[in-house]
Amino acid sequence: MSKFRYDNILLTGAAGALGNQLRESLSQVSSLLRSSDREDLIKKFKNEEVIKADLSSSDEMMSLTKNIDCVVHMGGQSIEGSWDNVLNSNIIGMYNLYEACRKNNVKRVIWASSVHTVGFYPRSQVLDSKSMPRPDSNYGLSKVFGESLAQYYWDKYKLETVSIRIYSCLAEPKDHRILSTWLSYNDLRSLINACINSSNVKHSIIFGVSDNDSILIDNKYARHIGYKPKDNAEDYRNKINQKDGYIDSKDSLVTTHGGYFASAGHFDDN
Ligand SMILES: NC(=O)c1ccc[n+]([C@@H]2O[C@H](COP(=O)([O-])OP(=O)(O)OC[C@H]3O[C@@H](n4cnc5c(N)ncnc54)[C@H](O)[C@@H]3O)[C@@H](O)[C@H]2O)c1
Repeated sequence: MSKFRYDNILLTGAAGALGNQLRESLSQVSSLLRSSDREDLIKKFKNEEVIKADLSSSDEMMSLTKNIDCVVHMGGQSIEGSWDNVLNSNIIGMYNLYEACRKNNVKRVIWASSVHTVGFYPRSQVLDSKSMPRPDSNYGLSKVFGESLAQYYWDKYKLETVSIRIYSCLAEPKDHRILSTWLSYNDLRSLINACINSSNVKHSIIFGVSDNDSILIDNKYARHIGYKPKDNAEDYRNKINQKDGYIDSKDSLVTTHGGYFASAGHFDDN
């Protein structure tokens, strides 16, 4: 019997910021790690293969997901952008990926949804996985589509998904908002490992944040995933106060969960 829950893992967005943080740890919990991006990649790990593919091509997604058990999907438009970019990478791309997973009998998808699915909630409200979407951007809308798609593929085809509403995944918090929203790279890796190892996820939504003192979410409906964050953004508060001074509580950076995404105008008007 295999020592891994899933022998063959596909990582999309492997050339990106978070993909790069995950390659080594994923190579350690799989027999084969297939790393992919539309950008060029160089093989780094013993059991890794690299394949260049674009999410907007259904044919490329079909070949990419052959013989794969579990997908860690980090690829796509990762911030607000033009409708065309969001549509091609996050909506058409997500559909192509799920159709390919269904046809190739992939068992589980773990993917990066976002805080921007719920970005319009005021920060005075603590959110959980049952909070209704309130997207704050084209980008946030596309992530709501992704979560609905994941629910549909679980209900109809029994393809499991964990949708991770990542807040702010960075090496360290860089402003006052991120003191509440930070997800450290170590906690990201332990979250992804928990999503891989959890026995029964159906379609679960979990918030991707570290153990921050000023946390804005409650992961009570995602305890079955077994994620135990360790880092705390509070350790950086003095550094941020020294850099930025004290922030007005009415600054749109800190009035909603989505920060400036919620207060910005329509991207395509710029
Ligand atoms: N970094 C964060 O704090 C954060 C927060 C919330 C959600 N997320 C989500 O996490 C994921 C990874 O974020 P990141 O910070 O690493 O972003 P990133 O932009 O650094 O990486 C995204 C990668 O996806 C690839 N990509 C884009 N469109 C593609 C396409 N059509 N086909 C194939 N590859 C494509 C890009 O080339 C890039 O390497 C994204 O889905 C993002 O929306 C990130």
